[in-house]
This record gives sequence, structure tokens and C-alpha cells, in this order.
Amino acid sequence: MKNIVVVGTQWGDEGKGKVVDLIAPHFDIVARYQGGHNAGHTVIVRGEKFVLHLLPSGIVHAGKRCVIGNGVVIDPTALLSEMDELAARGIDFTGRLHISNRAHIILPHHLALERTSEQRRGIRQVGTTLRGIGPAYEDKIGRRGLRAGDLLHPERLKRQLEEIIGEANDILQMRGAEPIALAATVDDLLGKASRIAPFVTDTALWLNREMSAGKSVLFEGAQGTMLDIDHGTYPYVTSSSGTAGGATVGTGVPPTAITGVLGIMKAYTTRVGSGPFPTELTDATGERLRARGHEYGASTGRPRRCGWFDGVVARYARMINGLTTVALMKLDVLDDFETIDICTGYRLHGEVLDAIPHDAEDLEAVEPIYETLPGWQSSTVGLTDFAQLPTNARRYIARLEALVGCDIGLVSTGPDRHDTILRADSQLAGWLT
Ligand code: IMP
Repeated sequence: MKNIVVVGTQWGDEGKGKVVDLIAPHFDIVARYQGGHNAGHTVIVRGEKFVLHLLPSGIVHAGKRCVIGNGVVIDPTALLSEMDELAARGIDFTGRLHISNRAHIILPHHLALERTSEQRRGIRQVGTTLRGIGPAYEDKIGRRGLRAGDLLHPERLKRQLEEIIGEANDILQMRGAEPIALAATVDDLLGKASRIAPFVTDTALWLNREMSAGKSVLFEGAQGTMLDIDHGTYPYVTSSSGTAGGATVGTGVPPTAITGVLGIMKAYTTRVGSGPFPTELTDATGERLRARGHEYGASTGRPRRCGWFDGVVARYARMINGLTTVALMKLDVLDDFETIDICTGYRLHGEVLDAIPHDAEDLEAVEPIYETLPGWQSSTVGLTDFAQLPTNARRYIARLEALVGCDIGLVSTGPDRHDTILRADSQLAGWLT
């Protein structure tokens, strides 16, 4: 039995797409379990770049079967345009894409409500992707959401939309925003429903049956631990459970079926949107990381905030996700630096903390405690053998392993699939045999 969760350990954008793409050939099924088209997974296959938002990264592998689980929220327009784009590039979905009938649908009022609530928050705004993700999850938890399975019943759809949009329009009007046109929404959704319906099924049942028949599953997380609705830097988080636990709730697969968790960790830290970020560098060093790492959002194009590796966050991610092993991404971005800082702890009002504060204002106020390591100042780009890494790069990796308390089984040295060091003696290598 081999069922592995791939999870982001920082604030997203760690490079999950590349890793999932790399290891997907060793699994039978790839399943997304949360989030929506707020995610942006960049995959480079034979020099061809694919940016996936909603579809599991496994979809670019011919024949691989993929699941959009019940924990995902689906914007029908985004889904169909992503499918159309990939179809134009030769990707066939027939019999390969399974969409949960319990996944919730993003509707026009979710986008409208999100715009108004972000405006109302003023300087405290979350800096969301404005894709309607949060309000779609609000409707889900509020027990008024529309689910993919409802698209199979066009006769009921109109009545459901009348209720949902009626309530949303009351709020929009109260906030002085344009109401959503019901008839146009119904027509639009009915048109899209007929295209999506053939892929909709009971994916929990399907997955469990496949697993009973010995098939292996790769669970693909989106965003990251610090953006998790429960365990992240609330309220500056996304609205779903991007941590490893989300994989079971978001697909209907029992916790006992998960056999390992692979944490994806960038060799430094980035964050998009607002919220605390203790190791952020707003100076020339931060700009250098951004330029060398091409740190611009895959979904929104926004420049990412950049900073040094945060060992406190990494340790926390190991605890919350129960990491079995780690993939360290973008090591080559640090190639030029004379010295490299690693945050090993936080100090708040003069006191050293032993845990991440739950309160965003406290986290905003912490002072990182840094340890400075010498850089290696030589190129690691494209290296594939651990022994070829400069001594100081190996020292850096060993220090991170000690801080995180987990082995680093893979080191990424460039954007291409081949720019990768897989450590032969690692747990990760064991999963890939
Ligand atoms: P939302 O997911 O659009 O509600 O945005 C909530 C927060 O999560 C914002 O700070 C976004 O920038 C951030 N976010 C959402 N998706 C991603 C992602 O895939 N990578 C990085 N940040 C993300």
C-alpha cells in the first residue's frame, strides 16, 4: 500500500507542481483534495510549460487517472477553460478525470461578495486571489452551497440557484453592490453543466474501490501549511485545509490508508498577499531572492514577498503534517549569496518563544533569531548528484534537516524535471521504486 500526501510546508508556491509531476509516474492516481483555481502549479515537461490551477498536476501524464475531490471548490468557467487549453495541447480527459459529486461550485455571487468583503476590511484585507474561494467555502459550511452532483439535475438547479442567489443578493444590496442576474446565471450554468456532468461521480467510492484493488494514490495539496484555515496565520489564510489531514476529509479516504507525507519546502521563504511573515526581507536582499527565484504569483502575477528560511515554520509544518520526508526546492536560487541566514527561533517582547503564536498581531511583532551560514557561491543549477553539491550547500541542507527534524530526500536545482537530486538512500527514493 502506497498512498502519499504532498503538502506545502510554508505559504504555498513551494514547488509542489514540479514534485507531483516528477513522482506521479510511480502512482496510479493523482487526487486534489482542497482549494480551487486560487492555486497555480507550474509544471515543465520536455521544455513545455503548463500552469495548472484546478486540475491535478498528474493530468499532463498520458493515461494517469486524476480526481478532483469533494474538498475542492470548482469554478465551472475556470475548469472548462483549463480543460479546453489542455485539450488544445493534446491532452485527453476521457476516462481519466473524476470530479466529486460532493465538490462545491463557485458561483458569480461568490466573486461579488469577496470583492465587497475585501473592500470593507480596508488595511486588514487578506489580499485574496479574488476567485470566490472563501465565499464558496462559506456557503458550504453554511449548508447552502451548490455541489457538482447538483449539475446532474438541471430541473432542480434553477430552484437551488433561486434560493442561493436570492440570499446573496440581499447581502450585496445591503453593501451597495450590483445584484447577480439570476436568469443569466441559470442559463450560463446549465450550458456548462452539460459539459462537466460526464466527469462527475462519487469519487470517495471510486477511490476507495481502486485502493482496495491495490492502486496507489498521490494526494496533491494546494497552498501551504501556513495558509491552512485552522493551522495557518489566521485570518490571513485561505479557506480550506491544505495540511495533510485535509487529504482524508477532502477525498473520503480514511486516515489509516495514508502511508506517508512528503513536505515541499523552498530553500528560502515566500508569501503572496497580506499577513505576518517573520523572516520577510524588504531590502535589496529580498529583491535579489525575488529576481533570482522569479518570484511572481503563478495565478495572479503578483510579486511574492521574499525572505530567509524560517526554521520555526518548518518545524511546525513537520508537526502538523507528520512529515515523513522533505523535498527542498530552488536551492540554486541561493547560489550567489555570500552568506545565508536561517531563522532558528522567535523572540517576542524580549522572550524566546517555544511555539508559533496563534495571534497574527503577535506573529507580526516577533523578531526572528538568525544563524548565519557561509554561502557556496558556485552554480548548483541542474546538478543531479548530491555528492556534486558544494560543501557549503551540503552543510546548509544538513542544518535544515537538523532544524526541521526530518530527512531531505530530494533537492531541486532548477525548474525542469531533470534538475533534481534524488537521494538514493531516502524514504522518498523507496516510494519511487
Ligand atoms: P484565497 O485563497 O484567494 O482566499 O486567498 C487567501 C490567501 O491565500 C491570500 O493571501 C492568497 O494570496 C493566498 N493564496 C491562495 N492560493 C495561493 C497559492 O496557490 N499560492 C500562494 N498563496 C495563495
